[in-house]
Amino acid sequence: MRHIFPLLVILLLAPLANAQSVDESFQDCPGLLIQNQSASEEQIHLQMTDDSSEMTVLWATSTRNMNAIVEYNGSMGVKVADAESYCYGNHNVAFHMATMTGLPIGEEIEYRVGTQDSDMTEWYNFTTIDPSATHFEWISIADHGDSSEGMDVSEAIIADTTAQMVTISGDISYADGEQNAWDNWFNFQQESMTSIPWVTAVGNHENEPGYEFAPYEHRFDSDQQIESETFWYSRNVPGVHMVFMSTEHDFAPGSTQFSWLEQDLSSVNRDVTPFVIVYGHKPMYSSNSYHGSEVELRDSLEAMYVAQGVDLVIAGHDHFYERTWPVSAETVMDTGNDERFSRGQGPIHLVIGIGGRSAYEELDEPQPEWSAYRENNSYGWTRLVYDGDVRELTLTHHRTDGTIGDKFTIQESPSIVESDDSSELGMVGMDSVFAIVALLGAALRKR
Ligand SMILES: [Fe+2]
Ligand SMILES: [Fe+2]
Repeated sequence: MRHIFPLLVILLLAPLANAQSVDESFQDCPGLLIQNQSASEEQIHLQMTDDSSEMTVLWATSTRNMNAIVEYNGSMGVKVADAESYCYGNHNVAFHMATMTGLPIGEEIEYRVGTQDSDMTEWYNFTTIDPSATHFEWISIADHGDSSEGMDVSEAIIADTTAQMVTISGDISYADGEQNAWDNWFNFQQESMTSIPWVTAVGNHENEPGYEFAPYEHRFDSDQQIESETFWYSRNVPGVHMVFMSTEHDFAPGSTQFSWLEQDLSSVNRDVTPFVIVYGHKPMYSSNSYHGSEVELRDSLEAMYVAQGVDLVIAGHDHFYERTWPVSAETVMDTGNDERFSRGQGPIHLVIGIGGRSAYEELDEPQPEWSAYRENNSYGWTRLVYDGDVRELTLTHHRTDGTIGDKFTIQESPSIVESDDSSELGMVGMDSVFAIVALLGAALRKR
């Protein structure tokens, strides 16, 4: 009985508190948002938190529906969470954000969003990520937008039913101050974004005329706080510690971001996540003539990435594809064996600005020594697979025409395991040894 009274008070006060905060959060919103009319939910998308038993969902309506909720269901039973509702700038759309908690790990959850006691959407599904799983697949893109090439990339992602997340290394919708472009962009990706989280690093195009970073902050919420946004954060997935940093904010030694990066990278447990990937927008290494290498970024952070054993740095900004060898201070540390590398030799840097924006075709010549592979006239995406049985990570570069460009593997083990091709060669080698022994034996018997 003692527990029931406080619970009753909370239940009675909760709707009041909620209504008040919704009113407050809507005070600055455009007058065109109609209150409490039936709302059509759109731009529904998941966002992972740093807790595997949680998933945040965000959506938009053109009306001020006051009691926005998410209802979710799994082996833990049916639960409901209230959303926080808000808007930004003069954009005539209301946004809602709710976090589903207490989710069983690695299990399918169904959910729907809407307004309490009235309109709810259809049910959507997602599977919570199990950080201890031995297999994980995801897609990484950058410089996306809504060109026909960008839509080809979106359709490929929607059709990919085994990818468990998408990352974007900045320059996301290219709204550039035109807020409807964001709305359309989110609606186009909704089919994928309702089932897997799209996790982002901020790019220069997210700093919009008249809005600065406000649209990005309110639409992709990495910290579940409406009034703030973290532009640098990390997430653990099976086998990989992923860092999302900002090349658009201060990263110089002494800055908050620099200290955070140092602290985050030095606290990775490599037994649990053998690989570390840093996602950020501008590249430290690029041999594209349009932007090229961001030398300031390299001067500030490369030594730290090398010292902390970062395996991959995945950037965009230059609209082409390029992969470096494992490098440190422009020096090639390793050239691997048949596109296979042992981790710990130095970060491999990728520019994957091929998500749909027009290609930057002019390249620096001659190709720098640190550049292992580059391509300046195709569009596409990259797909990564972590195989926990052998503790290795494989990245494949897909073009929108269905062909594959680059492909390589990083393994945790320091000794290079021969690839299928070279092991065939290995077998030939052993056959030759047996043949020589047999020949020698025959020759000796003849004597
Ligand atoms: Fe771009
Ligand atoms: Fe950019």
